[in-house]
Amino acid sequence: MNNTVFLADKNSKAWNFAKKIQTYVLETKEFLIPLHEVSITKFRNGEVEMYIPENMRGKDVYFIQDSTKYPQDWWVELLLIKDLLLNSSAESVTFVIPNMLYSRQDRKNRPHVPISARALAKSISPGLKKIITLDLHAGQIQGFYPENVPVDNLYSFPEVVRSLRRYHLEDLDNLVVVAPDAGAAGRTRYFLQRLEKAQQDTLKKQNYSFAVFSKERAAPGEVASMQLIGDVNEKNCLIVDDIIDSGGTLCKAAQILKENGAKKIMCYGTHGIFTKGISDLCDNYDFVMTSNTYPQENSLIEVIDVAPLFAEAIYRAQRGLSISKLFE
Ligand code: R5P
Repeated sequence: MNNTVFLADKNSKAWNFAKKIQTYVLETKEFLIPLHEVSITKFRNGEVEMYIPENMRGKDVYFIQDSTKYPQDWWVELLLIKDLLLNSSAESVTFVIPNMLYSRQDRKNRPHVPISARALAKSISPGLKKIITLDLHAGQIQGFYPENVPVDNLYSFPEVVRSLRRYHLEDLDNLVVVAPDAGAAGRTRYFLQRLEKAQQDTLKKQNYSFAVFSKERAAPGEVASMQLIGDVNEKNCLIVDDIIDSGGTLCKAAQILKENGAKKIMCYGTHGIFTKGISDLCDNYDFVMTSNTYPQENSLIEVIDVAPLFAEAIYRAQRGLSISKLFE
């Protein structure tokens, strides 16, 4: 542990997140892991330039990347930082990637398109020790990484369930957990299991069920059609998604749920990008929840702090302890 260091861009949104991780490890494990700065600037033509003032020789480096960066910069920075660290004789390099960008393009869903999640994996993995990320778009993406670069995919759901039970217990009565598309069905069923598990030892049992949308897209960010499969009449509904980008999927889903007689309508999307803002979503939902993989400033959004989860995972990885135990 003595050689472990955190690294982040001080001028990025990752800095605060990294500080939270550092504070958690200090307060709960009584261990201070230094947080160092990487300076990231640009040449006049937009090329990325970087510099680390500290000596990284022999260090186990955890680089915490900022999900809010322009996706192409985000990718190039990962390539350059690894080159810099390996050239500086770091002992190991682990990427902490709160939101794994390019994950939605994980298969050839029509001719003449790249499998971008694989291209990303191929380019960033050589020389890495491991990757720690959260609520991957599809678990199978881990298979794009070679066996000597494990991907630890953390789950925010246990924390979300805890928060729902603490602040919204009544809204969970007669609840339908809804998958926004077929690809999200497995993830949503897992969420349902977590809800069931959380009420195992309680006397008052709530009734939970499952529904799924069949969704077609006209173009990226544009929903062509959605059909609901399942009964939501007179029930509360919670939609669970991995990404809220434009919010179009969730707004359309909310309208259909209302037309089908749903009572309260709530949603949780792990990575809240909100490229079209939050007002349409807030108009359509009783409440909107997300995590802080994208920092949120609007108090209308309920935020689950996942920095402690990353901190635990990093601590356990460094100590050689089980990470899956966190999700039992
Ligand atoms: C799609 O496969 C993802 O899981 C999300 O449902 C999607 O990215 C949400 O996008 P938007 O908010 O733009 O509808």
